[in-house]
Amino acid sequence: MSPPHFLVIPYPILGHMNPLLQFSQVLAKHGCKITFLITEFNQNRMKNAIENLGTQINFVALPDGLDPEDDRSDQPKVILSLRNTLPSKLHNLIQNINASDGDDSKITCLVISKNMGWALEFGHNLGIKGALMWPASATSLASFESIPTLIHDRIIDPETGLPTRKQEIQLLPNSPMMDTANLPWCSLGKNFFLHMVEDTQSLKFGEWWLCNTTCELEPGALNRWPRFLPIGPLIQSDTTKSSFWREDTTCVDWLDQHPPQSVVYVSFGSLAIVEPNQFKELALGLELLNKPFLWVVRPSTDSNNENNAYPDGFVGSKGKIVEWAPQKKILNHPAIACFVTHCGWNSIIEGLCGGIPFLCWPFFSDQFINRSYICDVWRVGVGLDKDENGVISKGEIRKKVEQVVGNEDMKARSLKLKELTLDNSAEGGQSSKNLQKFINWAKD
Ligand code: UDX
Repeated sequence: MSPPHFLVIPYPILGHMNPLLQFSQVLAKHGCKITFLITEFNQNRMKNAIENLGTQINFVALPDGLDPEDDRSDQPKVILSLRNTLPSKLHNLIQNINASDGDDSKITCLVISKNMGWALEFGHNLGIKGALMWPASATSLASFESIPTLIHDRIIDPETGLPTRKQEIQLLPNSPMMDTANLPWCSLGKNFFLHMVEDTQSLKFGEWWLCNTTCELEPGALNRWPRFLPIGPLIQSDTTKSSFWREDTTCVDWLDQHPPQSVVYVSFGSLAIVEPNQFKELALGLELLNKPFLWVVRPSTDSNNENNAYPDGFVGSKGKIVEWAPQKKILNHPAIACFVTHCGWNSIIEGLCGGIPFLCWPFFSDQFINRSYICDVWRVGVGLDKDENGVISKGEIRKKVEQVVGNEDMKARSLKLKELTLDNSAEGGQSSKNLQKFINWAKD
């Protein structure tokens, strides 16, 4: 029987493209054929990185329907434009692939990410199988799936998704208690909530909801719905070929010069923006540490660079600042002592695989639930608390770094969880079996 041919369709932001790329690379290693869809805008922006990704994957580009100068950080606009533009173009793309490659290479399955639920319904109408690869935790997907129940129980408002009153709930058995104000859509506005209600309904057209997680990490969510299939941790033997953005590798040489467990790594993923005041306080906090630090400061999106203005008194001589790091490599480097993170799911999985304790600094969406897992369930990190002015102070940063770095019990739990997590992807591990089950299903 010929191997399955997957058409992979990520929502075009890095937090979705990277996990789907890693997943594609794992599938390709199992002999599957992969066509990976990107937008023409991203193709131009990421040209060099794509050329570097190797030849296992066939990249194809389609327009996103926006003008070159349109603001692509306006998510509702991008989501709508994709939904209006892509279906007819996808139809032609699939027809062309199927006609040119012959029967053996016909597209057999679509794999989509969040915000692209319509594509599963589209594939279903063409008789093509489909699966969702969710780019965050299974718990956050379960929370979207629970929206009708939360509305029925009058916990959230059906029009806005906001809590009807202040309360703590346990969304699923074996999951942490959460403040309803921290449900993942609450920080993203009414339009996003309404979009997610619609998107989640289309997800029913996907046979599997794959998540980069493991049975031990989120048993409550994974046991709840039979469609959930944990296939994590997604790890690549060649980490240099798993990112769409160019990485500054000089920080690996810099880390090589530091003793084990001595460096504080600070990174807030691809989207979070640190407000100017908070940025200054963070810089001063790092300056106060009696440890070196490696800090990822993405180029500012504002033209006068106000967001990334370093404060007076910041010298930074103990640290290294880069615009984008080879994070998976960093988190596996012996010199790293702890990880100051925004609690994006991919960063968490990568930190767990490195056995690194966390300092949690969530910004929005699922990041608050993720913090609860780290601090309250797995107990491999601590949260950074805001002061009365809503700022995480330099003193708080120093105090919590010392608390985490000196905590041998926490370090031991991190190493134990690393082992449990990695076992899943090893031969005979649960995620490994799930992956094989998925590939066999796609072949049939
Ligand atoms: C988004 C959402 O913001 C997050 O809440 C959700 O859980 C996943 O999707 P993002 O904010 O980018 O993602 O965070 P994260 O999930 O942590 O992904 C960041 C990715 O960028 C990671 O794979 C990380 O390795 C990579 N990265 C980050 C680098 O390669 N280099 C860096 O310097 C920083």
